[in-house]
Amino acid sequence: MRILFIGDVVGRPGRRCVRELVPGLRARHGVDLVIANGENAAGGLGATPETLAELFRGGVHLITLGNHTWRKKQLAPALDMYDNVLRPANYPQGVPGRGSQVYVLPDGRKAGVINLLGRVYMEPVACPFEVGLREATRMREMTPVVIVDFHAEATSEKVAMGWHLDGACTAVIGTHTHVQTADERVLPRGTAYITDAGMTGPMDSVIGMERDIIIRKFLTGMPSEFKVAEDRPGLCGVVVEADDRTGAALSIERVCALDEGRG
Ligand SMILES: [Fe+2]
Ligand SMILES: [Fe+2]
Repeated sequence: MRILFIGDVVGRPGRRCVRELVPGLRARHGVDLVIANGENAAGGLGATPETLAELFRGGVHLITLGNHTWRKKQLAPALDMYDNVLRPANYPQGVPGRGSQVYVLPDGRKAGVINLLGRVYMEPVACPFEVGLREATRMREMTPVVIVDFHAEATSEKVAMGWHLDGACTAVIGTHTHVQTADERVLPRGTAYITDAGMTGPMDSVIGMERDIIIRKFLTGMPSEFKVAEDRPGLCGVVVEADDRTGAALSIERVCALDEGRG
């Protein structure tokens, strides 16, 4: 099975990149399953049912979220209706939505997907290492192919999660920093790993936002309204190839494609 994982989709430029670029990437890489992190899909912060629908129309099968899950208030009451939108699995029990799901492909093959949130430099949540291993083990009873989106800030926490889950899942893919890292590899026990898949959105920006506003914020320390940038939109992510029988990763490859007609 070949899985395309798309890094944090930011605002309208990010959604447009998905629509414009995913069909070509699917064909070029023989992709069976498309997962996207959608926590910034609506105006750069959070997601709405409309923006999620746009990503699904663009060829995404399953959407993961992150620390901005609750940012748009209309999503929380809708979250229970989806079986293909995941919020972090280590959120408190009883909150809307689900943190993991087995997705069934049209040909009957299955892939488990888990969304986890880091704790270093982030809001307090349950231990992602405990929840991650427990969920990966539970998913593996249903299907050998299990993909983890670890949405976290600190490189050390993400690298540690890769080693912690090595052999317990097919891939640990980092999200949240919006900057793609070049450390993709298959770990010794068969888990593909990358610290961050990167961002899908305006590349000439500060992690998706208009750069002048962010620079001014750093210069003055004063609060300011962020605005999604538009220049040079592109899509970043990884393609993971998994052994359908064992769930071990065979390869992980970075993808970074510009939406050439734009920006
Ligand atoms: Fe993000
Ligand atoms: Fe985030």
